[in-house]
This record gives sequence, structure tokens and C-alpha cells, in this order.
Amino acid sequence: MLDRAAGVSLMLNGAPARIGASPLERLSHALREECGLTGVKVGCDAGDCGACTVLIDGEPVCACLTAVGQIEGRAIETIEGLSTNEDIVGRLRRAFHTLGAAQCGVCTPAMLLAATALLRNNPQPDERQTQDALGGVLCRCTGYRKIIDAVMAAHAFAKELPASPHKSAVGQRLPRLDGAPKISGAEIFGADAWPGDALLVRAVRSPHHHARFALGDIEAFTRVHTGVAAVYTAKDVPGENCFGVIPPFADQPVLAEEVTRFRGEAIALIVGEEAAIRELDLSAFPVTWELLPALTSLQAATVAGAAPIHSFRPDNILTRGGVVHGDVQTALTSADISVEGEFETGFVEHAYIEPEAGFARRVANRIEIQACTQAPYMDRDDIAKILGLASEQVRIIPTAVGGGFGAKLDLSVQPFVALAAWRLNRPVRMVYSRTESIMTTTKRHPAVIWAKIGATADGRLKAMDFSADFNTGAYASWGPTVANRVPVHASGPYRMPHYRALTRAIHTHLVPAGAFRGFGVPQSAIAQEQLLDELALKLGIDPLEFRIGNALQAGDPTVTGQVFGEGVGFKTCLEALRPHWRQHRDAAHTFNATASGPLRRGVGVAGMWYGCGNTSLPNPSTMRLGLKPDGRLTLFQGAVDIGQGSNTVIPQICADALGAPLALFDLASADTDTTPDCGKTSASRQTFVSGKAAFLAGKSMRRAIMRLTNVGDEASMQFDGGAIIIEGAGGQRRLNLSTLPLNTSGFVVEVQETFDPPTTPLDENGQGEPYAVFGYGAHLAEIEVDIELGRVKVLRLVCAHDVGKAINPTLVEGQIEGGAAQGLGMALMEEFIPGKGENLHDYLIPTIGDMPPVESILIEDASSIGPFGAKGIGEQALIPTAPAILNAIHHATGVRVRRTPVTPDRLRAAITALQDKSDNVRN
Ligand code: FES
Ligand code: FES
Repeated sequence: MLDRAAGVSLMLNGAPARIGASPLERLSHALREECGLTGVKVGCDAGDCGACTVLIDGEPVCACLTAVGQIEGRAIETIEGLSTNEDIVGRLRRAFHTLGAAQCGVCTPAMLLAATALLRNNPQPDERQTQDALGGVLCRCTGYRKIIDAVMAAHAFAKELPASPHKSAVGQRLPRLDGAPKISGAEIFGADAWPGDALLVRAVRSPHHHARFALGDIEAFTRVHTGVAAVYTAKDVPGENCFGVIPPFADQPVLAEEVTRFRGEAIALIVGEEAAIRELDLSAFPVTWELLPALTSLQAATVAGAAPIHSFRPDNILTRGGVVHGDVQTALTSADISVEGEFETGFVEHAYIEPEAGFARRVANRIEIQACTQAPYMDRDDIAKILGLASEQVRIIPTAVGGGFGAKLDLSVQPFVALAAWRLNRPVRMVYSRTESIMTTTKRHPAVIWAKIGATADGRLKAMDFSADFNTGAYASWGPTVANRVPVHASGPYRMPHYRALTRAIHTHLVPAGAFRGFGVPQSAIAQEQLLDELALKLGIDPLEFRIGNALQAGDPTVTGQVFGEGVGFKTCLEALRPHWRQHRDAAHTFNATASGPLRRGVGVAGMWYGCGNTSLPNPSTMRLGLKPDGRLTLFQGAVDIGQGSNTVIPQICADALGAPLALFDLASADTDTTPDCGKTSASRQTFVSGKAAFLAGKSMRRAIMRLTNVGDEASMQFDGGAIIIEGAGGQRRLNLSTLPLNTSGFVVEVQETFDPPTTPLDENGQGEPYAVFGYGAHLAEIEVDIELGRVKVLRLVCAHDVGKAINPTLVEGQIEGGAAQGLGMALMEEFIPGKGENLHDYLIPTIGDMPPVESILIEDASSIGPFGAKGIGEQALIPTAPAILNAIHHATGVRVRRTPVTPDRLRAAITALQDKSDNVRN
């Protein structure tokens, strides 16, 4: 409530208002918490992400860097105040919606505000003006291209486009079904809703990589700090003080007991009144620390005699993976030519714009948690274990997710709010700070990779030997998945008659590494695709043609002995790049031949494949579909949409399978009490697995309706309000739905279907059928290097992907552009160093100015298993970008940088070393 007796006066969204907060309070906080304007997002509280952008007197400003005292008499506009009646605002919103410029939507309010300020002065900006105007706002999902397109094209969106004339939904560029709240600012993310009487919880965390700790007088601490309702430590966990995404490997305590194993590990929770807990100085918490030796590198953790991080995991090895096929030693020895190298990659932070947040409340003998998550059903089971409850006593209601990319598969705030709410019987909320988010949540695994590849003199791949250690940090998280997925993929999608790939996931005293778009495959592709380039160049064969000549095709066995008779579109992807390759390679050669300054150009290519779904493990998804008497359909789909578009794509599939207009569908989104288990949003499985379950549900509903009229499946069906008109060989029938009995859920017909992709277990040599379907792709990168500064600018990306069937081409392109942006960041700028750079100022992700034009080429080599032939695209899109850029750097400069990211200092050093070497040779 506004305090009208105090504070500052201003115009807020066009109306006079007062804000009663302290003049020193952040404007972002006052707008959100006091005025309820949660369209103002907080991604960093430090001026780095721009998510809190508001307009002050028409100019975009970071509200987190603005004190309430600075806004006396000023005019503030937030997304909630942007009226669609204002012509330019309406055009912008329609353009964002239609062109797919909002994915998760957490950056969208800030983007729209910054764009509004631009367009009010310049209704038709060019690309450079658009990038300049939006340059202060980060987006982690879209790769910015569709945002740029929407701003530049907004002038053309005077009114809504007419409804699609197409009868079918699959294959259409339909706007997101859940897009409206994203562009109005009404979308509810983890931090945006909480019960009025909620307490706040903060975690006390270890400042050390490895330490023993002793708790002091907690009762006294609670007594002297007004507003503190309770402090909880490990002894207060009612069930198992242990969680983990893969139950046999679960090893992470909710609250550490005596010893912490990574910087940021929680040891206690402090719960109380919002204001008091926010202001609390956590350094006053009674704890003493004894520093212990920390193993902070793979080398330190694997050296003989290294102390075990977990007593039950000898040699600090969490798990090993392997695929062996043929006789690699003999084949490499007899190869005409071979190349080998060691490669190193660092931790990569997910850097979604929405830090983890949510609340919990106790409802009788149940606990309800509303939070951002990619895996509600896994969360439910882990929370039940932690609280000592049955799974049915836990309800998870996912909020909108402001980016996840894998890290929100693991628990974050959920056990903390659940424990406090359960114990106190009061709602409790928690919002991670950016520092807390970066310091404690999972990362991409750092890797040290060695590989050797041999070929015949005429350019046929013969054998590959590969080994990799992945730094999995202090706890297991998804380390086993990475160790097991990489050996299956490390060959790339090429014919490889002899193959050995061995991996280990190694514990260190660092933040746990987990799932991040690709589960280790982006790291292995960096090694394998660069070596392939080296091999081609050594053989004197064009690198693209070398790949085309060795590309896996239908009928070829993979390295696990699996043979796909269809749907292997890799060669087509490479061939689609051929004209671009020739044109841009030639242009780069011409540019470099005439260059007089420090700039050089290069063009590189890389391929990829990626198995959709879990590796040789059950992976089911279940969909429920109900038909109401008024002819509307409710699809209960528990696949969490983290921005990738499953809330749109899955209904598109279901609608066409049934033969009903998409407009008749209502969506019941994930809620563990009401939607069946669709599994987690990861491994590029939702379009493929949950989409197939939706396809089956649509077909099942169709059969059920036909049965009601005793007509065969081949009859046509037309929805007509509360009736369905069936037309078959026997003539026309009208099924009046209101005459049918209702079931207990209020439906006249209800069906439920499950799909679990067919796979087989891998044997001791990793042979078998780990995935029912692979997606394939290849990227071309054109770059420009300043050889004096070591700086790389990516000028163009051309991305060809075999997606089986593009259910919604706009959303597929969005995944490709967003994945390519993350691949660019991985190649050139992103590396998290624990203990340093725990913010978005030091940890750099691509900005709108870093992203080049992206041309997406969609190949549809259908899989007969996927819905309408579709495969996944989420992880696939990221994998080839980094190696394509690295190969382009070599093309431009002649150097191979085997350590990513290729920062300017690393590249400059490599160029200097190469120049010194050639000088020495000349001398
Ligand atoms: S929250 Fe203000 S810039 Fe990030
Ligand atoms: S859509 Fe921009 S951060 Fe997700």
C-alpha cells in the first residue's frame, strides 16, 4: 500500500502517485514491492542486465540504480503503463508477438520499454540504431535477432494479422499461445507472486571452497535480531538431508553438516519478516570456520593420493562412461594420416536473466511450492524425501521460467522455502541474488579432452581415440549423464569404423557442474570438429567436402552400432551450407589477400548430432485431453515451457492429430496436482517425447469420438460449437455434446496417452540403441579478427538443422538463434571462475551488439517415431557454433587455440607465438 503521508510524489504510469519507501531505497524494489509493478524485473541489482529498465521522463533508466529520492516530480513509465492505445506501443507489441521476439519473456518488458523510447523519436530505426537503443538490456534466450527484427518492423504492424487461413496448425508460424502476458508484463515469474503474509528466508553460505564449521549460539542470535522468526540447520531437516537429480547418485545436503565442499554451500537458513531479513548482516551469524585443503582443479583431484571429497567415491571419480567399437589402436597405427590434440574448456554459467525464486506454503498436511523450475515432478519427489512426506503430500506449481538452459533442473530455493514453511506453518518466500545464483547453481562442466583421429590418404575417416575428464564439482548433479552421453556423441555424426571414447566425471571442491544445453557434447564437439578440420587441411581436402564425404547417412552404423534407416539429415545440412561456404570462403580469401591493416577474415564450419531424450533410460511423457460439452478441449500438459515454446508446439501437434482447430484448445499448464507427468524439460525431449504423447492423445480422442457415432476412423470431423459433425461412408451425423454424460472432471470425453521412446540399454562396450532419434546440424561462421588486439567479431552465422518437421518454424528459428548466441559466448567470452566474477559485470554474455545476422536453414528429414516426424532442437542449436567459430579463427589467422573461451589475450598470445615461430624458421 502507498504511504500517502511520506515519500516522494511522481507521475506513475500517467497518474499522480506517491511512493513511501526510504529515499535511499532502490526504485526497482519500491515499484515491485510497494506498487505491485512486477513487470519491473530484477536480474542483477547492479546495472548490468537492464531487466529493471523503466522510462523516466521518457528515457530508459535502470531502476535498480535509481534511488527513490531521485524521482521526486518525475514521470515514470513501467511496462504496465505502456498503453496499447498508443500507436507505437501497439505496433511494437504486435511485432514482438508475431515475430517471436519473446521467448521466456523475462527481458521483454525492458526490451519493449527501451524500444518504445526509441520509436517515439524514430519510428523506423535501422539495425545499428536499434542495437544502440537496446544495448543496455541483456537477453539470454533469443540471440536478439527476432527482437531486432520486431523493433525494425514495428511500423508495419498497424493491426493484428488476420488469423491463419491454414486448416492445419503443424508447420505454421503461429505466435505463442502463451505470448500475451509476456508482452503485457503480466507474466508471473518466480519472484513475482507471494502470499501477503509470507516471511522471507535467506541462506548462510560458506565463503570457502572447503571448510569445517562449528555453529555458535543460534538462540542468542535469534533473540537479539528483531524480526527473525527462526533459524534452521541440518538437524532441522525432517526427512533425508540429501538430494540429487539422479537418485542413485544423490549426495548433496540441503544444509551442510560440519563440512562444506564448495564456496556458496548453505549451512543455515534465517527466516523472518521481510524488511528485517533483507537488512540482516549475515556476517553476524554465529559460525566459526576452519579452512581445509581444497582440490580446485581436475589435476589436483586426480593426483595419486588426493584426499577423497566423498569417502564413498574412491579417487574422486563420480562415474565413468565409455563406448568402444572395433580395434582403434590397430586402425590408428595403420592410418595414412592422423592428428591429435588436447583441449580445455572452462565452467560456463547459464546466466538466465531470472535468478531462482519462489515461495512455499503449508496446506494442512501438504506443502505447496510455487517456483521457477524445469522439473516439477522430480522436485516433488525430492522435496517429499527431504521433508519425510509421501510424494502426494507435495504440490509443485511451476511459475513462468525466466530462462533455465539446464540449471533449473536442479533444486535451488525449493528445499529452503519448503523446510521453513513446513516448520513455521507460515508461507515463506526466497529470491536469489545474482551473486547467490552464480555462486551456487550448477554450471557447464569444465573439460580436459584428448583425442586422436586417423584417416586414409583419400580422405576416409578410419578411427578415433578420445578421452575426457569432466570437472563435476562437489556433488553429482548431472555428472553421470555427461559422462555417459559424451562417449556416444564424441565421434560427431560421421562414419567411424574404429572408435574408443572414455570419460570420467571427477569431483572437486568447486560449485557442482550439471546440465547445460548439450550435456557435455558442446565441449567434445569443440575438440572433435577442430581435429576434423586439421585432418582435412593436412589431407589437402576442403573441410566442408571432407565432412560431406564422411557424413553419417541412413543405413550406416553409429559408434554404438545403432542403424537408422531414415531421418539422418546430416549430409543434407552440410550440402545446404555449400553455396554459403564457397561464397564466403572466397570473399574471405579476397579480403585477406588485399588487407593492409590488422583485420583478417575467416570462415569455419562444424557439424553436430544430438540424441533426443535420456540415454538408454526410460523417458516417458503422459498427456491428458478432455472434451467439454461446449466443444472446447483442455490439454493437460505438464511439459514446462522455459521459453522454448512447448506451450504452443505441443497443442499444435495435438490439434492436428485430432483434426480440431487450435483455437478450440485451452491449456492446463504444469502443476503436479493436475497435469500428468511429462518428465523434465531437458535433453531436447519435449517436442519429440511430450509432443508424441500429445499426438497419441489427439488420435485417441479422435477414435473415442468416432466410436460414439459408430463411424470408422477415416471419417471427417468438424467441430461446430457444442456439436461435432462426422461425415463418412454412411453419411453425415451430428454429435451433440451436451447430450453426453459428464465425467467427474466435467468432460464428455477424456483420454490419456503415454509415450516412451524406444531405446535399449548399452552393453559393457557402450553398444546398443541409446536414443530413438538424433537431431543433426551444421553451422558456418564468418568472422573478422583484429590480429593486433586479438579481438574476434562474428560477422555471420548460417545454421542448417535437420529438425525432422518444423512444427512451428518461427519457434525453431528462435531456438537456433538463441543457441547460436550461447555457442558464440562459449567460444569467445564466457568462463566462470569460482570465487571471482560472481556477477553479470565480470561474467560476460553476448549483448545485442555481439550477435551477427543468423540465417537458419530448416531441413526436414522426418523421423517416423517423432510426432509428424519432428525431432528436438533445443540443445542441437548450440553445439556446432563454437567449433565453427574456432575453425574460422584458424582460417583467418592460422592459429589453433585449444583453450576456450578464446579471449583476446589468449588469441593475441597464440598469434604472437605463431609469428615468433615463423620468424625463427625464417632465421
Ligand atoms: S536488475 Fe537493474 S540492471 Fe539488472
Ligand atoms: S526472452 Fe530474453 S531473457 Fe528470455
